[in-house]
Amino acid sequence: MKTKFEVKKIKDMRADVVASVAFEDEASQKLQWLNTLFKGSLDTLIETNDFKGTLNSTSMVYLGPDHKSKRLMIIGLGKSKEITLEKLRNAYAVAAKKMNSLKLSVSAFEIPDLSQVKSITGRNHYEIMQAISEGIFLSQYNLKKYHTKNDFQPLSEVIFFTDSPKYTKEASDAVRDSRIICDAAIMARDLENEPSNLLTPDKFAEVVKKSSSKAGYSVTVFDEKKLAQLNMNCILSVGKGSKNPPRFLILQYFGANKSEKPVILVGKGVTFDSGGISIKPSQGMGDMKMDMGGAAAVVGTFEAVARLKYKMNLIGLIPAVENMPDGGSYKPGDVIKSYGGITIEVDNTDAEGRLILADALEYAANYKPKAVIDICTLTGAAIICFGHLLAGLMGNDKDLIKKIFEAGELTGERVWELPLYDEYDKLMNSEIADIKNTGVGRQAGTIMGGIFLKKFTKGKYSWAHLDIASVGFSPAELAAEYQTPQGATGFGVRLFTELLKSYSK
Ligand code: BES
Ligand code: MN
Ligand code: ZN
Repeated sequence: MKTKFEVKKIKDMRADVVASVAFEDEASQKLQWLNTLFKGSLDTLIETNDFKGTLNSTSMVYLGPDHKSKRLMIIGLGKSKEITLEKLRNAYAVAAKKMNSLKLSVSAFEIPDLSQVKSITGRNHYEIMQAISEGIFLSQYNLKKYHTKNDFQPLSEVIFFTDSPKYTKEASDAVRDSRIICDAAIMARDLENEPSNLLTPDKFAEVVKKSSSKAGYSVTVFDEKKLAQLNMNCILSVGKGSKNPPRFLILQYFGANKSEKPVILVGKGVTFDSGGISIKPSQGMGDMKMDMGGAAAVVGTFEAVARLKYKMNLIGLIPAVENMPDGGSYKPGDVIKSYGGITIEVDNTDAEGRLILADALEYAANYKPKAVIDICTLTGAAIICFGHLLAGLMGNDKDLIKKIFEAGELTGERVWELPLYDEYDKLMNSEIADIKNTGVGRQAGTIMGGIFLKKFTKGKYSWAHLDIASVGFSPAELAAEYQTPQGATGFGVRLFTELLKSYSK
């Protein structure tokens, strides 16, 4: 997709479709204004009152031969006092998807001047432009890769335009940056959506390795022998039931002096989670090919950070495994000693994510990091708690939590904090080992995931934990008015890339 930014008047735009926007409260004035410009082309639309400016609504107007573009689309933004960056993002996404259904390829989008809009004040032109372009870029993703007849036609050229030259620089910078970030998010979606027969732990490592040299970061891969030497027994145990052995990936990006302490991202990379011996019910099990959404978010973040050349050091740790039932599988009742020497009773082999993350979080301490953030599709309980709109956020550092929250508000990859009070710890006590890998019944499922992980950070560093089981994939009912089709969202890439900006100097 080609993208450009232009300062031009709407009637001078030449495209398959030119899109304008209108708030509900100003819809009739906007239509009148457009009607004057386009010499009465909107007469019927105004007469029928079919366009009211409701959020995510669109109307198409066909323009006569005197005009440079044949089609004018008007996009409703809802009530001006209720607009948010996320609503803006989605409104443009919905419009772009409608253009796809008409197989239009060159489209021009008007950038509104929102400086007077109260609900969005405090957001600068860069941020507004970023939201708009993200909505469009992310909406062009499709799942047709394995259709032998692929009839999806993404927009081939997108032009953003405004007739007000006052924020050209910020807006064109935002388009450039968000293109890089959205490409990275789309790479994460591709990894997540990839079927697990085609994306085993080994293959995952290979794909990341291949991509890393182009983007400008490096990857080291530990195989099962190396993992055994290092006593990364949690990762090995979870992987035991699969013919596809586990891998541990270390991603490194140096954008600052090597002596500077890194930030570490840890991503859960379960390429398929059958539940193991504690096997899952068959309904919906196929979605568990996306149980590496955390790992995909880490990879996508490296792609973006390296291409944006952040001046900071970043380490990524990804335990990649397949969790399968087999004669060789690890079993409920087993006791495992983690990389850092903590003994764990396996109560349920389906609580495998926290096990592989335990080794990784202990390994992270070796770097004496500035901060460690893990991201994982950890608990089904996160969906019960949040639906599909928010990720669960936990941790031990108020400042870090606050920064992640703010990055979430800006990017629309929103998070909400849950507490990790020590009083929860005893729910994970084991008779036979230091800790067991489940809590009691279904109590506080998402918090219990965080409580387990907390033990392996040993309070050695500033840490945050993101449970993205709720947002890693988008269900059908959300997909219609959202930036992605049903399936992987790439959640985390935009959030992290925004967050890490503050470490880049
Ligand atoms: N990968 C799942 C969590 C999950 C469930 C992600 C649904 C996305 C959608 C995780 O490994 C898991 O199975 N967790 C268990 C934990 C339980 C056994 C303590 C769960 O949530 O039931
Ligand atoms: Mn599981
Ligand atoms: Zn899992």
